[in-house]
Amino acid sequence: MFNTFFRTNTCGELRISDVGRKVVLAGWVQKSRKLGGMTFIDLRDRYGITQLVVETDAPEELVSTATSLGREFVIQVEGEVVERQSKNPKMDTGDIEIKLSAINVLNKSVTPPFTIEDESNGGEDIRAKYRYLDLRRNPLKNALMLRHKIAHEVRNFLDSKGFMEIETPYLIKSTPEGARDFVVPSRMNPGEFYALPQSPQTFKQLLMVAGYDRYFQIVRCFRDEDLRADRQPEFTQIDCEMSFVEQEDVLGTFEEMMRNLFKNVLDVEIANPIPRMKWCDAMDNYGSDKPDIRFGMTIHDITSQAQGHGFSVFDSVEYVGAISVPGASEYTRKQIDELTEWVKRPQVGAKGLVYIKFNADGSVKSSVDKFYTPEQVKAMAEAAGAVAGDLVLVLCGARRKTQTMLGVLRIEMGNRLGLRNPKEFAPLWIVDFPLLEWDDETQRFYAMHHPFTAPKPEQLDLFYSDRKEDLEQVCANAYDFVLNGTELGGGSIRIHEASLQERMFEVLGISKEDAEYKFGFIINAFKFGAPPHGGLAFGFDRVCALFGGCDSIRDYIAFPKNNQGRDVMIDSPSRIDQSQLDELYLDLREVK
Ligand code: AMO
Repeated sequence: MFNTFFRTNTCGELRISDVGRKVVLAGWVQKSRKLGGMTFIDLRDRYGITQLVVETDAPEELVSTATSLGREFVIQVEGEVVERQSKNPKMDTGDIEIKLSAINVLNKSVTPPFTIEDESNGGEDIRAKYRYLDLRRNPLKNALMLRHKIAHEVRNFLDSKGFMEIETPYLIKSTPEGARDFVVPSRMNPGEFYALPQSPQTFKQLLMVAGYDRYFQIVRCFRDEDLRADRQPEFTQIDCEMSFVEQEDVLGTFEEMMRNLFKNVLDVEIANPIPRMKWCDAMDNYGSDKPDIRFGMTIHDITSQAQGHGFSVFDSVEYVGAISVPGASEYTRKQIDELTEWVKRPQVGAKGLVYIKFNADGSVKSSVDKFYTPEQVKAMAEAAGAVAGDLVLVLCGARRKTQTMLGVLRIEMGNRLGLRNPKEFAPLWIVDFPLLEWDDETQRFYAMHHPFTAPKPEQLDLFYSDRKEDLEQVCANAYDFVLNGTELGGGSIRIHEASLQERMFEVLGISKEDAEYKFGFIINAFKFGAPPHGGLAFGFDRVCALFGGCDSIRDYIAFPKNNQGRDVMIDSPSRIDQSQLDELYLDLREVK
């Protein structure tokens, strides 16, 4: 397949069985070295590295060209495959080398700013600036190959299930995924803006109205939000939607897709069936809606054991919760002080930390010994699920907030104890999300998923109630796919009736006029026979990173942005000319 007029083989292809063949290769000079009178060159392309050799008795011109080659020169070489004297078992091509008869320098290279080898000497910033050079390195190449393989498997699987890949536009109107939009001014419509899609949500629902009952798209989405290791301003979704389905159909289809991916890409069998957890159980036991279930250390409610003994800190709060860290009862004072400072960091936000050491001999020692008898302390430790040898860590305050902090602490302890093995995969469905989330600041409800998510049909009476407490109880037919503590995907069964959709906007405090202005097109479409439908979207970059055993999605994107949302290679975002601003009728204001 690689035999072209330009080269006969790639640099990763030749083996001992090729000895004696005359070949032509092309690629980049990884390095060259002189040994006695001989010159050795490592020639690299996407497929591997092949050693080239120019012998002592080679024509003078060939020797001088070979010795003049610098790192990253692009060359075409001609020669014969010969068996190597000293073989390199670490290289696929390590049994052979090419005895050169000609070198054609196709292009020179200036000295690269860092070494293009598996372990580069370049820092992150310089590698980002020269991303095209970094992409020549194996770790990034392997990441992109993994990405390609996953995309290929996804397409195969969905095609085999009758899904059609349909593209949707990028220059659209605001989508309701809850982040800020990136906007694009319209020259032809002065003063008006497109928004880039946060997801193709509304379009895929319109495709269901149009009758394309199984849609998918591997599609770019754009969200202007604070960036983290698993977030990019433009990222890719495996976006799917189905008509005439119930929640079980959607979960079943995508469970099968994930099982196929794991098997075909990593040769890993994942749990069958994938376990499910209700949102409220995830919050109560793991303090997170994306629990990492590779390890236990679950959260325990010890409020009833902790309260009523005169310790005002515990007595004055809604909730006291704890985790027991296995085998950590011998933590020193210094280690516990450090942990206390850790939970007080703004990212966690606890006011303090109470500890109980459940010693190996069965005795207990805690930071609240003067308020409790040893029996009472032990009762708290046991309620926290501790056994002798454990260290119990206790936080208190408002229920959900404290559970969330304990969830963060649990993950940290999991990391510190090495319980989060990236080679182990523990998938999980989170189901029965609340439909709505109350925001104290703005005194209104927000959609927990998005405003097209359907309430559970059996809870419709609560959904039409005017009482906040009733609305808070309504659950959605919404689900997330979680893997190793990361939300990989999410979706829901949608509202498909115009009147229910209008009620949703009303509950969200979106006026009729505003709903009409923003979403009139979809409310209107629902009047023309919208089928029952539902779907989900996976974060494709996150799938790739987790399959690759990595936390950061950046390595799995060919040209990512940094944490400030900048592409430092092309230096973007950047200013535009006054003439462009004029054309767009835009005036800039100074940043204060
Ligand atoms: P949601 O907003 O949950 O759902 O997004 C789906 C998945 O996309 C990934 N993701 C991201 N990945 C990288 N960078 C980001 N900034 C980012 N934001 C989200 C996550 C997430 O689980 N339209 C709905 C889906 C539906 O209801 O069908 C949606 O977009 O892995």
